[in-house]
Amino acid sequence: MREITPRRIIEMKGREKIAMVTAYDYPSALIADESGMDIVFVGDSLGMVVYGEENTLNVTMDQMVFHTRAVSRAVKRALVLADMPFGSYEVSVEEGIRNAVRLIRAGADAVKIEGGYDHRELVRKLVRMGIPVMGHTGLTPQRYLRLGGYRLMGETEEEIEEILRDARALEKAGAFAVVIEFTLSDVAKLVTEEVSIPTIGIGAGPYVDGQVLVWHDLLGIYEKTPPFVKKYADISGMMRLALENYRNEVKNGQFPARDHYWEFLDKDDFRRKAQRALKRLEGDG
Ligand code: KIV
Repeated sequence: MREITPRRIIEMKGREKIAMVTAYDYPSALIADESGMDIVFVGDSLGMVVYGEENTLNVTMDQMVFHTRAVSRAVKRALVLADMPFGSYEVSVEEGIRNAVRLIRAGADAVKIEGGYDHRELVRKLVRMGIPVMGHTGLTPQRYLRLGGYRLMGETEEEIEEILRDARALEKAGAFAVVIEFTLSDVAKLVTEEVSIPTIGIGAGPYVDGQVLVWHDLLGIYEKTPPFVKKYADISGMMRLALENYRNEVKNGQFPARDHYWEFLDKDDFRRKAQRALKRLEGDG
């Protein structure tokens, strides 16, 4: 069992901010864990940042299982959270349970679903059978088509009510935390005060119990990022520079240098061995 458990995450509310980041492969997850993240999250955002899709709607359970397995092999301390992709839990509670079990068997410690109130029955059942669940309200990217794109949520009374209803339903159903995405900070603050479970914000301001960002966004791995992201590095710039240097050194013969290859010290020995090898090959026709 990993050190950070859902119970530990709940205990952090009001005491210590929760740091969560996405990761989709083994080396990234190793770094995320070693950096002291509380939650390493295999988000369905991988559809966009890893597979180049326009949105997350095409992400499959198989993809989530492969990536969860890779991440879970790397993480020793943090809680490993896996996203339930679009279509994997909406058809029936039974199908939702079957798919959550696949993610747990791939090494996740908990699963995340988008929404709250509409899936309260599924959350209740998962929690009762021992699968910890995180909910997700505010902007829910899996409702991209209905929302008409990614936009700030919580400006109207109806949206505030919907967000609060989701958070309360998740708390009641036994979820251990809820993500609040791209809402006005006042709304996220209200939810944080209204529920006993931790709120983890992304583009929802500072008055929440923790923050989550997407790996590629915060590291500056490519340019297309949401407006609320802070870039902590310019990794794409570093990658580009490194690749240009490599290419130039290949073209001008600087790479490989003497440190990067091996050769016979005794050239006569090599000549003898090569002649014998060539002779044997002649016999093969
Ligand atoms: O899939 C994802 O990365 C997410 C975060 C934006 C919370 O759901």
